[in-house]
Amino acid sequence: MITLTNLQKTFPARGSGVPVQALADIDLTIGRGEIFGIIGRSGAGKSTLLRTINLLEKPTTGSVRVDDVEMTALSAAELRQARHSIGMIFQHFNLLSSRTVFDNVALPLELAGMPKAEIKTAVEPLLDLVGLAEKRDRYPAELSGGQKQRVGIARALASKPKVLLSDEATSALDPETTTQILHLLADINRRLGLTIVLITHEIAVIKEICHKVAVMEGGRIIEQGPVFDIFAHPSHPTTRSFVDPVINRGIPDSLKDRLSPTPQPGANPVLRITFTGEKATSPVISAISRKLNLDLNIWHGQIDEIQGAPFGTLVVEALGDSTSVEAAVSLLKVNHLGVEVLGHAVPANH
Ligand SMILES: Nc1ncnc2c1ncn2[C@@H]1O[C@H](COP(=O)(O)OP(=O)(O)O)[C@@H](O)[C@H]1O
Ligand SMILES: [Mg+2]
Repeated sequence: MITLTNLQKTFPARGSGVPVQALADIDLTIGRGEIFGIIGRSGAGKSTLLRTINLLEKPTTGSVRVDDVEMTALSAAELRQARHSIGMIFQHFNLLSSRTVFDNVALPLELAGMPKAEIKTAVEPLLDLVGLAEKRDRYPAELSGGQKQRVGIARALASKPKVLLSDEATSALDPETTTQILHLLADINRRLGLTIVLITHEIAVIKEICHKVAVMEGGRIIEQGPVFDIFAHPSHPTTRSFVDPVINRGIPDSLKDRLSPTPQPGANPVLRITFTGEKATSPVISAISRKLNLDLNIWHGQIDEIQGAPFGTLVVEALGDSTSVEAAVSLLKVNHLGVEVLGHAVPANH
C-alpha cells in the first residue's frame, strides 16, 4: 500500500546554522489494512517521515508510492486529488473553534464542493461511527480531549481515505481516553480495512494496536518488524529501552545488588528465559528441572500478551554445577525458548 524507497530529507540551514538531515536511508513497506506504528524519541524524524507520505514534506531524494502512485511525480492538482485518499489526525486535533462538530467534519466535503444534502448523508454515519451523534451541534470548546479527537477522526474519514496518518493522536490524552481512542482506531481498521500509519513516542500505543513497528533514531529506521517479534527479541539498545519497561524484562532493584557480571565462588548463574507463543504455557521448565536435577529459584516472572499471543519472561537462579546449568541452557534453546545469562548471584548477606 505504501512503499518508501531510499528516502532522504535534509532541511536547509536556518540562519547561521547547519543543514538538518531529518531522514536518511528510509526503506519501508506498509501493507494494505495494516496498523503500522513508528516509534522514536523527540526529534527522531517521525513527523517528517509521516508527512512525506502525503507529500506535505517533499523528500530531498527517494520514492514515495501510495497505492501504486508515485507521489513525488504528481503535479500540484494531481497531488490535491491523491491527498483525498490520505486522511490525517493530529496531537492537538486542529479543529476550527468557530464551527460545530458537524461543520468541522463536513469541512473537507464543503471544500470539495459536495452539495449540502449529500454532505448530511455522509457526515451523520461518521458521527455515529465515532460515537458523537448527540454532540453534533456543540463547539470544540464544549468537548473533552477524547471527544475532540473523535471529531478529528470523523473529519479525516470524511473523504473516504484508504490511508489514515496519525501524528501522536493520543499524546495529549489521559491513559484511559488514550485506550478508548486506540480501540476506536483498531475498530475502524477492522471495519473499513483502512491502512493506518501512526507515530508515537509511547511503546504502550504500539503494544495496544499495531501489527508492525519501525523504530527510528537520528532520522534512520534502526529496527522494524512484526510487533510480537520486536517485543520478544529487541536487538537495538534503543528498542530495548522502549520495550523493557512495558514487558518488565528487568529484575527487581533489591535483587540487582546480588548480581555480579563475572562468575564468583559460590555464585549461581542467573538466567533470563523468554517464552513466546504457545511455549509460554508449556511445562518445559519443570521438565528440565526434573531431568537435570537442577533446582531453579525464581527471582522474577511475568506473562503478558502481545497481539493476542502470550509472551513471558522468567528470571531464575540456577542452583547447580556449571555442567548441569550448561545442559539446561542448551535444552531450553532446543525447546525454542530464549535464554541468556544475566550474571551470577552473589549469596545474600544475612
Ligand atoms: N521545517 C523544518 N525545518 C528545519 N528543521 C526541521 C523542520 N522540521 C523538522 N526539523 C528537524 O528535523 C528533525 C526531525 O524532526 P521531526 O520529524 O519533527 O521529529 P519527531 O516528530 O520524531 O519529533 C529535528 O531535528 C527537527 O528539528
Ligand atoms: Mg513529531
